[in-house]
Amino acid sequence: MLRETVSAEQKNKNDPFELMKIYTRSGKKINNTDRVLDLLTEGVQIVTTHYSGDDYGLAAAWVMRIAGSPHFVMTAVALSSNTYPYLQKAGFFGVNILAEDQVGIARHFGRQTGHEVNKFKRQDIYWDRKVTGAPIMLDALAYLDCRLVDVYQPPGGDHALFIGEVIDAGKLREGEALIYRREDYPYRVDISLIESD
Ligand SMILES: Cc1cc2nc3c(=O)[nH]c(=O)nc-3n(C[C@H](O)[C@H](O)[C@H](O)COP(=O)(O)O)c2cc1C
Repeated sequence: MLRETVSAEQKNKNDPFELMKIYTRSGKKINNTDRVLDLLTEGVQIVTTHYSGDDYGLAAAWVMRIAGSPHFVMTAVALSSNTYPYLQKAGFFGVNILAEDQVGIARHFGRQTGHEVNKFKRQDIYWDRKVTGAPIMLDALAYLDCRLVDVYQPPGGDHALFIGEVIDAGKLREGEALIYRREDYPYRVDISLIESD
């Protein structure tokens, strides 16, 4: 693994897409722990909320069930994201579980920020609301509609954990869930942010 990384770095110093094997978008070197954590199997979801007349949402791989009766789930949301403050204010969220043919939708919600664009303006994604009012994607594989019960921010962490009680859930179509793989989401490394060794 190390040999492969070093040779990619030497060969492709000026190729931003090769650099993504070595650095995050913000120039942090991807380390051994990152690579081990990449081996956790995760789905891809669009976590949404609605506040004061507007919809908010982001792609989230860090979503999991944490209790079975009643059903609780948890989603980890970056403090820097646009969605974060609105999830807290709204007090509810939707989890739209993507199907394996929806990488494009994951990129749409995961590679753009509501700080800059309204991701809900896209015409080919259709939305509904169930119990809470969170946007539920009609063409997702399945959805969870959740009432926010707690938010925990691990000290020093860059994400907050939003814990929700599932108050409605449904399968929307046949298919398999989209599994997260880093290479499905190419990004350009911001070379100016790379710290020299
Ligand atoms: C497949 C995929 C999975 C992601 N998983 C998460 C996640 O679990 N939590 C998170 O905070 N950001 C995650 N992100 C990044 C956010 O979706 C991304 O930063 C997004 O632009 C934030 O949007 P917002 O600023 O409109 O909230 C993921 C991105 C992708 C492409």
